Amino acid sequence: MKGRVKVTVIGAGNVGASCAQRLAEKGYADVVLLDIIEGLPQGKALDIKESGPILGFDSKITGTNSYEATANSDVVIVTSGVARKPGMSRDDLLITNQKIVAEVTRNVVKHSPETIIIVATNPVDAMVYLALHESKFPRNRVLGLSGVLDGGRFATFIAEELQASAGDVSPCVIGEHGKSMVVIPRLTTVKGIPLTKLLPADKIARLADRTVNGGAEIVALLKTGSAFYAPSAALVEMAEAVILDKKRLMLCAARMDGEYGIKDTVIGVPVKLGKDGIEQVVELELTSEEKTALMNSAKAVQELIGVMKLTS
Ligand code: LAC
Repeated sequence: MKGRVKVTVIGAGNVGASCAQRLAEKGYADVVLLDIIEGLPQGKALDIKESGPILGFDSKITGTNSYEATANSDVVIVTSGVARKPGMSRDDLLITNQKIVAEVTRNVVKHSPETIIIVATNPVDAMVYLALHESKFPRNRVLGLSGVLDGGRFATFIAEELQASAGDVSPCVIGEHGKSMVVIPRLTTVKGIPLTKLLPADKIARLADRTVNGGAEIVALLKTGSAFYAPSAALVEMAEAVILDKKRLMLCAARMDGEYGIKDTVIGVPVKLGKDGIEQVVELELTSEEKTALMNSAKAVQELIGVMKLTS
């Protein structure tokens, strides 16, 4: 018997620590929380561990500054890097986070050569591309947080507007997790009813716009950091689909190998998530307008990738 799966969370800031907490509470994974700041992951891990007897979970939670403790992880969630301050775009983080994610990826891969990496660090599409480059993993084993979070935001706004249950909304948000995000109302449904039949176009446009700017809205409110409750919820749902081999269709950042007519770029699309990570990239039938928007989104990511000047 192998015992519990092992999940490592890199970065013990708000997103990372919330992921560790949510995973610990699920009970099926042992969790390693790693950060470069001494004491931070140890303190947060101990605090989470001490909630175990209260909540009734008994998974192992370890806080560490050393990659040795992450050895043979089944899944690694990468949250390390700097977050946005008010007025910043995700792209402003590119060069700082490039250095961090490159080093993190090399360390992760050294100790867990078979793992599946889920990236949260922004700008996430470029960071997934970078993690694929550094790890030399096949594309199924590196994915990023995008549409699960953005779709969660869109579904929230729709449910509020319709006085509906948020869980009944099935959102469709693809493309870059950034300004060129592509919200598709035509393929967003409420228990099978297309959103376009439920709300007028101008109202939908306002909700879509709020979704595209959903991260910035929270940064502006918090002033000292970015969102973490919904991002960590999304990351743990994605990890769970892999860990429990759920074969769920989820909107994630993945490298396109010709799907949607796009190559060598990472964008958010529906993928099937199971024990092998991305087990399938699903190609939606898009209108020509939606296709153009997706192409422009892919171009925006391609530009960021160019700025990183990756060499092999
Ligand atoms: C956000 C960050 C995670 O959208 O990009 O809140």
